Amino acid sequence: MDYIFRKRKLLKTLLSLSLLFAALALLQKLKPGDGVSPAPGSRGDAAGAAGRRQLEAAANWLEAENSFYRSATSNGSSSNNGGPASEATAVGPGGPTNLSSSPAPAWEVTVTKCSPNGSVRSLPWFSGLDSRFQQYVLYRHCRYFPLLLNHPEKCAGPGPPHLLMVVKSVVEQHDRRAAVRKTWGRERSLGGLSIRTVFLLGTPAAGKDRRNLQKLLEYEDRLFGDILQWDFMDTFFNLTLKEVNFLKWFDIYCHRTRFIFKGDDDVFVNTENLLEFLASQGEGPRRESLFAGDVISRALPIRNHQSKYFIPKQLHDQPYPPYAGGGGFLMASALVRRLLAASEDIELYPIDDVYLGMCLQKVGVEPQVHYAFRTFGIVKRRVSPMNSDPCFYKNLLVIHKLSPEGLLQMWDTVHNTTLVCAKKVSFNLNE
Ligand SMILES: *[C@@H]1O[C@H](CO)[C@@H](O)[C@H](O)[C@H]1NC(C)=O
Ligand SMILES: *[C@@H]1O[C@H](CO)[C@@H](O)[C@H](O)[C@H]1NC(C)=O
Ligand SMILES: *[C@@H]1O[C@H](CO)[C@@H](O)[C@H](O)[C@H]1NC(C)=O
Ligand SMILES: *[C@@H]1O[C@H](CO)[C@@H](O)[C@H](O)[C@H]1NC(C)=O
Ligand SMILES: *[C@@H]1O[C@H](CO)[C@@H](O)[C@H](O)[C@H]1NC(C)=O
Repeated sequence: MDYIFRKRKLLKTLLSLSLLFAALALLQKLKPGDGVSPAPGSRGDAAGAAGRRQLEAAANWLEAENSFYRSATSNGSSSNNGGPASEATAVGPGGPTNLSSSPAPAWEVTVTKCSPNGSVRSLPWFSGLDSRFQQYVLYRHCRYFPLLLNHPEKCAGPGPPHLLMVVKSVVEQHDRRAAVRKTWGRERSLGGLSIRTVFLLGTPAAGKDRRNLQKLLEYEDRLFGDILQWDFMDTFFNLTLKEVNFLKWFDIYCHRTRFIFKGDDDVFVNTENLLEFLASQGEGPRRESLFAGDVISRALPIRNHQSKYFIPKQLHDQPYPPYAGGGGFLMASALVRRLLAASEDIELYPIDDVYLGMCLQKVGVEPQVHYAFRTFGIVKRRVSPMNSDPCFYKNLLVIHKLSPEGLLQMWDTVHNTTLVCAKKVSFNLNE
């Protein structure tokens, strides 16, 4: 057993290293395809083709390695019960089943049945929208999608996690996930409080090498067991789908967790400070409706067509409710069920953090502003010189935004015992 365990560990290290290299090499090559296809005939075409070939080779190689990996561990009590999801549309409750007990609730959405809502075409304002927004409102009623990769076991066991780290990511950002796993998202127990991590993903957007990226992702998930993937395309407008599908997932599989940190895969999070902050909240109803982050109040929809956040007047013509910047915020798990129920009565909105603000408003919870969340929300502020000072990072909760290498470096520096900062802040909401 011990031998198998050690062998697995070695394999795991070797394979995750090669996966990292393969993915990194490919990402370099595929960069021009970052959502925008390169102009025809440009250098990007050749590089893209070479990248795709390499991606295919890497995926094939991984598949071969993988069957070896599986057979080597299939007799042990493997903890990866997500299983291969090659053909799967949805993964059942998984884990050891107990036939004598009633079935646990599970993700019941197994097919994508999403046809356009033709009646929106007759709305007076529909024809005034640009085609991107027309598509959006035609499919806006489609909320829940099949799970391609699931981890029903994530919060199981006698002691549910104290804090679940929920990280929005996309298939291609393998290196960011790797950095998060090594730093603030590392699954562990701190002072007896357990921390678990999941990454939320959709499927690669069109134009990417979907099949091979998917294989790489499934492989990564078999190694780390922390990917939740839904069968919708991972685009900016679909981020709200990630939000509502996660709320529903959490309600089914993870509601015994105490707190959730939800954030991007390119932020720095000071995990110890998060726990200290949560401990400072005391007990009681206030803690059960905790929602804290970098709150933006009285923001107006952006009408500049060049902006990523552009919203036509027809879609929304009021100030936004207070909302927390999606880069990172904390919430009490007791709030999730209320938000889920509220969300089912609110039409989806293309900006995910604003949408969550709408849900909060409906349940009557005011998001709390806290200075230690520096996600910079929607409006980018100028980079401050403080942004490279480790003491700044040591004293805050969440900081936008770092490269994977920057994150690893800053994490080491902040946790270096020789680092001396002038003051140590303590966290409570009255500061
Ligand atoms: C797995 O178990 C089967 C049956 O118990 C046995 O025949 C086989 O040799 C085992 N394989 C490994 C790799 O241990
Ligand atoms: C299965 O469920 C029954 C009834 O809930 C319980 O008594 C039993 O201990 C369970 N068995 C296992 C192996 O979990
Ligand atoms: C289709 O759109 C109409 C008009 O906005 C709306 O009343 C109706 O509820 C929508 N149907 C679905 C299934 O969402
Ligand atoms: C969202 O995902 C669905 C399902 O994959 C896709 O049909 C739709 O085009 C996506 N919407 C946007 C705005 O990208
Ligand atoms: C901690 O910082 C000191 C001084 O900058 C440096 O010499 C040392 O290597 C660092 N230790 C680690 C473990 O990074």
